Amino acid sequence: MATKPAPGVEPDQQPATLDQCRRCGLWKDATQAVPGAGPKHAPLMVVGEQPGDQEDLQGRPFVGPAGAMLDRAFAEAGVERKDVYVTNAVKHFKWAPRGTRRMHKTPAQREIDACHYWMDREVASVAPKVIVALGATALKSVLRKSGVTLQASMAHVIEHEGRSVIATYHPSFALRAPDAGTREMAYRSIVDALRHAHRLIGRKD
Ligand code: URA
Repeated sequence: MATKPAPGVEPDQQPATLDQCRRCGLWKDATQAVPGAGPKHAPLMVVGEQPGDQEDLQGRPFVGPAGAMLDRAFAEAGVERKDVYVTNAVKHFKWAPRGTRRMHKTPAQREIDACHYWMDREVASVAPKVIVALGATALKSVLRKSGVTLQASMAHVIEHEGRSVIATYHPSFALRAPDAGTREMAYRSIVDALRHAHRLIGRKD
């Protein structure tokens, strides 16, 4: 992802490509940065939190277990993933070792803020009509509001800088919530959000 220097930002804070990004320390423990994927000008953008273990290894967003669930939700909502630009609020995998496994760690606000540099460029160049934010980190990043909560934001479409934003649960929550009822509720919410987004992009205005 090549970029123009931003005025008023220190030169080492203006990486030319995502792979060269050192705006926070997450690059040190990651295999690679994971850019967004999808059509250059998709009307629908779906934003997750950060790459997981598989995404970090493969260099593509949502290709692990959360991605399989997202694919199922896309299919059920009647949305073709190939038409959607899929990305993450944070582009490097944040993790801590547990035995031989790399366990996901939630990114800190300063890491989300550092990665706005890339989100801003993606949103400006893809120019989606609708953004679906999967989980609280994605929502905070898309709205640039650290205090926003998922619960307060899910009931309605949020108009933000000329785009419609729809908030829903992260697929990992729908996979890992302790009880089956909560997992099903979260999955249904994701399907509904994608269906709603699909209707909005189909609407002429
Ligand atoms: N979780 C995310 O938020 N993004 C991915 O790409 C994979 C898992």
